[in-house]
Amino acid sequence: MTTAQLHIGQTIRFDGNPTADGISAAIHDSRGALLVESGRISELGDADALHRANPQAQVIDHGDGIIVPGFVDAHVHYPQTAIVASWGKRLIDWLNDYTFPEEMRLADESYANEIAGRYLDLVLSNGTTTVCSYATIHPESVNAFFNAANTRGMRVAAGKTCMDRNAPEGLTDTAQSAYDDSKALLQRWHGTGRLDYVITPRFSPTSTPEQLEALGALWAEHPECLMQTHLSEQTDEIAWVRSLFPDARDYLDTYEAFGLLGKRGLYGHAIHLEQRERDRLRETGAALVHCPTSNTFIGSGLFDMDGLLREGQRIGLATDTGGGSSFSMLRTMAAAYEIGQLRGRALHASELLWLGTSGSAAALHMQGKIGNLAKGLEADFNVLDLAATPALAQRTQRADDIWEAIFATIMLGDDRTIKETWVGGQKAGATS
Ligand code: GUN
Ligand code: ZN
Repeated sequence: MTTAQLHIGQTIRFDGNPTADGISAAIHDSRGALLVESGRISELGDADALHRANPQAQVIDHGDGIIVPGFVDAHVHYPQTAIVASWGKRLIDWLNDYTFPEEMRLADESYANEIAGRYLDLVLSNGTTTVCSYATIHPESVNAFFNAANTRGMRVAAGKTCMDRNAPEGLTDTAQSAYDDSKALLQRWHGTGRLDYVITPRFSPTSTPEQLEALGALWAEHPECLMQTHLSEQTDEIAWVRSLFPDARDYLDTYEAFGLLGKRGLYGHAIHLEQRERDRLRETGAALVHCPTSNTFIGSGLFDMDGLLREGQRIGLATDTGGGSSFSMLRTMAAAYEIGQLRGRALHASELLWLGTSGSAAALHMQGKIGNLAKGLEADFNVLDLAATPALAQRTQRADDIWEAIFATIMLGDDRTIKETWVGGQKAGATS
C-alpha cells in the first residue's frame, strides 16, 4: 500500500457541464485538497478538514497553485510532431507535401519510438495527460506509441491509420490488411493498462468503399472501441468526397453507409456541415472534435460552437497536432475562444476549461475515469502558476475573481504556466 498523498491548493472541478448547465457548474475552492491513494482521487474537499481526517497522509502543499484536471486532447497525429508549423499550404497540399513524407518515415521503428517519446514528453510539459492519436499505417507506429504511453503511465487512445488509395506508395494498406492489422492491434492493446485501441480510417478520400466497409465490420465486432476519422474540414475536400462517392447524400453518409457512424465515433473538424449531418450526429450521440488552431492555420473555416452546443451535440477539443500549430491545450482553448468570437459566442473561461478536460473526456467516453477532480477518478491533474510570466503575473494580479484570472491564463499561458503535472498519482518527469 503506497502512502496517501494530500495535495493542497486552490482547486477547480466541475459538478456539471458549464456549456449546458451554466457556469456555476464549475466550482472553485480557494483552499481545497485532493487525497490521492493508489493512483486515484479517494477524497476531495476542504484542505484543513481532509488533513485532520487523514493525519497519516503525505502533505504536498501547492501554495497558491491552482489544481485543475489534466488536459485531454481528443484528436492528434503524434507522427506529425516534427512537421508542426509548416508553411503555406491548405489541407490536400499540406497532406501531400509535408504530412505523407513524414508519416512514411515512421516505417522505421526506431524513428517511431523516438517521435512517440518526444511527442508525449512535449504534451506532458504542456499539461496534457490524455490524448487520442492517429498513428501511421504502420502497425509498429501503434506499438511505439502505446509503449511510450505505458512507460509514462498515461491514459491514451490510438489506432493504426488506414488508407488504401490517394496516398503515396509505401503509405497504403488494403481493405483486408487494414482489417487484419487493426484487429490484431486491437486484440493486443485494447484495455491493457490505461490504453485503448481506436479504429482509424483516416478520411473517406483515402479509403475505398471496400476498406470503409471492412472497418465498419470490425467496429460492429468491437463496439466497445472508439472509431475516429475526419469530417468536412475544407470545402475542396468536401467537393473531392462528392466526386469519389457520387451516391452519398453528403460527407457523413460516406461513413454512415459503411457502419462508421455511431455513439463512439469521433469526427474531427466538422466545420462545413449540412443539416442532415448535424441531425444524424446528434441523434447517434457521436462526438464532434473541434481543432481551432488547425482550422485557422490550414485555413479551414470557423467551427459553429454556439449552434452545435445549442443543438446538444457532444463536443471535444483538440490540438490536431501537427495541422494544429501548438501542443498546448491552453493555446487551443484560447483559439476556441477566438473562433467563438467570430461566430458570435464568447465562451466563458469555465466553458473553455471544461471543453479541454471533462468535455474531451466525455467525447472519448472516459468521463468515469479522467477529466475532472472527483472521488474515484484517476489522479491526473495539473498545478497552474498564474504568475508564471511577467505578462501573466501583472494581469492576474489585477483580476477581480478567479474566472477573470483563469481566462487571462488561458489567453496568455503556455507550458511555463504548467507548474506540475501528475499522472496516475505520480509527478510527471520525476526520476524516482
Ligand atoms: N484530413 C485527413 N488527414 C488529415 C490530417 O492528418 N490532418 C488534418 N488536419 N486533416 C486531415
Ligand atoms: Zn486530424
